[in-house]
Amino acid sequence: MPDFSPVDLSVTWLGRTMPGCLYNASGVWCREEDELEAVRASAAAALISKSATLAPREGNPEPRYHRTALGSINSMGLPNRGFAYYLDYARRYDYACGKPLFLSLSGMTLEDNLTMLRTLAAAGLPAIPEINLSCPNVPGKPQLGYDFVATTEALNAFDQAWPGRYGVKLPPYFDQAHFAAMAEILNRHPRLAFVTCINSIGNGLVVDIDSEAVAIKPKDGLGGLGGDYVLPTALANVREFYRLLPGKDIVGCGGVRSGREAFMHILAGARAVQVGTCLYHEGPAAFARIAAELAELMQAKGYRKLDDFRGRLRTL
Ligand code: SIN
Repeated sequence: MPDFSPVDLSVTWLGRTMPGCLYNASGVWCREEDELEAVRASAAAALISKSATLAPREGNPEPRYHRTALGSINSMGLPNRGFAYYLDYARRYDYACGKPLFLSLSGMTLEDNLTMLRTLAAAGLPAIPEINLSCPNVPGKPQLGYDFVATTEALNAFDQAWPGRYGVKLPPYFDQAHFAAMAEILNRHPRLAFVTCINSIGNGLVVDIDSEAVAIKPKDGLGGLGGDYVLPTALANVREFYRLLPGKDIVGCGGVRSGREAFMHILAGARAVQVGTCLYHEGPAAFARIAAELAELMQAKGYRKLDDFRGRLRTL
């Protein structure tokens, strides 16, 4: 007899339970308040704001986002309203709605990040910082997550500036020695509660044959790849950090466009799953569709909750 009992997609982490496992990747539908509100009103289970710098930024020159058959390339350059704008939103946010609010922080300097963390701490809000160590798109500014010494210094300083739990958004790693080295650094920080894997694969190049030109203007066409291009790399990063960071949560991000990819991320160990390129192209209705597809897949497999298969990826 078929089992019609509902599938439970809720996630308990960071001392709270959220109604599902999907939310937006920082950068997509989250720069303006009306975008954040549209995500909150959708089937997303949480929301995260655009990576904030201390001062507002226009970002890089257009065109800076390009859709391809396999995903996207972007070099946005952190266009955002400035930290005060997102802090003001966080002050007015209705936390009783049950959807956690994450604030993405991407200071241009370590001191900027510390100022934002201290200000957020003084505000005493339940918003949770996700510190971006991995933006590939600011000319002349390398991705912090590829500099293990600078990452060590930054995390030590974050621990001093912020009294609660926090997370970091990592760039993709491609070598097991780098997974191990970064995990060893991250494991020194008990209040570092989650890592989001992955940011875009930085400095890809999309070429248009007809025009014999690059697809975006900044950095002579170099930009971060998202969408189908990045799924296997994202899954590898989720799985490796799931194994290497016991007691911490992994947020999967990269290549999710249906319930199938969300399932893969959770099977690889993700606690929750962010949607970026697909959300950009489809809008917030994507969350209800992906959640329904995930629930249907789980039901077909006889799983009732995410814990039934999280991290249980089989090896051969
Ligand atoms: C951007 O604004 O350039 C994207 C942010 C990021 O990749 O971290």
